[in-house]
Amino acid sequence: MSGPVISLGGSIFSKTDEKYLLEFIKRIKKENEYALVVGGGPIARDEISRLRKIGAKEYYLDMMGIQATRLNATMVSLALGNLMEVPRSIDEAVRQMKLYKRVIMGGTEPGHTTDAVTLLLAEALNKDTVVNVTNVDFLYDRDPRLKDANKIERISYSSAIKMITAEKRGAGENFPLDILSLNIARRSSIRIKLVSFKDTSNVFNAINGKKFKGTLVV
Ligand code: UTP
Repeated sequence: MSGPVISLGGSIFSKTDEKYLLEFIKRIKKENEYALVVGGGPIARDEISRLRKIGAKEYYLDMMGIQATRLNATMVSLALGNLMEVPRSIDEAVRQMKLYKRVIMGGTEPGHTTDAVTLLLAEALNKDTVVNVTNVDFLYDRDPRLKDANKIERISYSSAIKMITAEKRGAGENFPLDILSLNIARRSSIRIKLVSFKDTSNVFNAINGKKFKGTLVV
């Protein structure tokens, strides 16, 4: 089965970045085959923080996040004229992919993010690459807000995992990939191309196997 597996980070759903979302949708419409996993973005963040203030348990915060990802996935799905329901599991997504050659989904179950869903879906579909469309242009060797931070063009799974767990960075703090997705990528040798949503041509260069600006995790 050809066609890319793409993680569309929720940050593209910020009001101020709407033009990039619309550009992305316009471009992906031209692709015949794809699997798209959509993140929760501001809706997830806002609703989770509201629920947290009320004292809801993490499990339920995750459930709220999943609903937000599915809401965003529904929006993208309808924009693309897709008549299928947003699948709620990887198995359902694989069936849709086999039948219709495209699938648009959000989260599945509590305990991880849509990055992990993307890698699991790629694994299930026997893909060797995923494209992670996010709000940073590269992985950096330290906090990108620091002046002496350097871009990383290529990094191994193990080094990326080490970077996430390094104390100086703070666990998962704005790191565009989570540990679970890196572990799944590593065990199945799935390459991750990380690109910023703010350059649509570059995003589609990565999707179409052309030269792209961003970080390759191998
Ligand atoms: P996201 O995948 O958007 O997570 O899911 P994120 O890391 O906060 O945002 P990105 O990667 O920058 O887009 C939003 C929230 O939904 C829950 C988690 O709480 C997550 O933080 N979620 C999502 C799950 O519990 N399971 C899933 O499969 C997906």
